[in-house]
Amino acid sequence: MSDFEHVFEKPPEGAAADWTISQNWRAYTEVEHDTWDTLYARQMEILPGRASNAFMKGLQALDLNTGGIPDFAVLNPKLKALTGWTVVCVPGLVPDDVFFDHLANRRFPSGQFIRKPDQLDYLQEPDIFHDVFGHVPMLTDPDFADYMQAYGKGGQRAQSLGMLKNLARLYWYTVEFGLMDEGDGLRIYGAGIVSSATESVFSLEDASPNRIAFDLERIMRTDYRIDDFQQVYFVIPSIEALNDATLEDFGPIYDRLKGASDIGIETILPYDRVITQGTQAYAHKGGRFAA
Ligand code: PHE
Ligand code: FE
Repeated sequence: MSDFEHVFEKPPEGAAADWTISQNWRAYTEVEHDTWDTLYARQMEILPGRASNAFMKGLQALDLNTGGIPDFAVLNPKLKALTGWTVVCVPGLVPDDVFFDHLANRRFPSGQFIRKPDQLDYLQEPDIFHDVFGHVPMLTDPDFADYMQAYGKGGQRAQSLGMLKNLARLYWYTVEFGLMDEGDGLRIYGAGIVSSATESVFSLEDASPNRIAFDLERIMRTDYRIDDFQQVYFVIPSIEALNDATLEDFGPIYDRLKGASDIGIETILPYDRVITQGTQAYAHKGGRFAA
């Protein structure tokens, strides 16, 4: 799920200079196609009413349930026509600069493999179900499509400034584990949640995690855990508002962050806006953050 770790230093055998590999769709086995269908059906039992409108709409527009693992040769023309994005296959996690370069050019790197039937609920590296089912529907949303590209460019910049650790937290708490307040309740838009049956329920319904209104600088100071359900989720009022909040120049924020301490995953600060079940996080003022 984390796209920020170096695994190899140069592209492995068979990969292109940009680390892409062929999807080799014809080589998937029946068992692998069945795994996709099983995971898809399971999520569709859970996600209506829980996943954001943007996600559900994207899922429908892309038609990812035609039987088995989607063929990128079929998927890409649809996605490209909607927002100019495409999906490319990579052999697992890629170096940060490679990842950012793909995003900055509206290419989303996806794992080629799918999890084994005995790993439906847990895997360490992102597979094609997480990457395509989890991430790609959101890329059909024009605002989210822009956000992801901006993140790619921002990543290149953060890397050159030595601030990647802070920026990666923004990716984690939005792209991977973000919640959205749609006015009539909280919904999921983060790929790490929508691709997980158990966390889809936990993130919205469990009493234990904190759900805190989105605050850019606060997020960039907050640790995250990769080994368990999240202890804290951040709630945006809309994708448009997320975009607006991240348009600003992060330079001054990075300067402040250099002197700031990290915030633990269970910490609630006095100024945090904690969202409890049934409370609306935001007054809806045209999708912008209420003051
Ligand atoms: N505005 C950010 C910067 O100045 C770039 C960015 C946009 C980063 C969106 C993440 C998401 O660096
Ligand atoms: Fe991911």
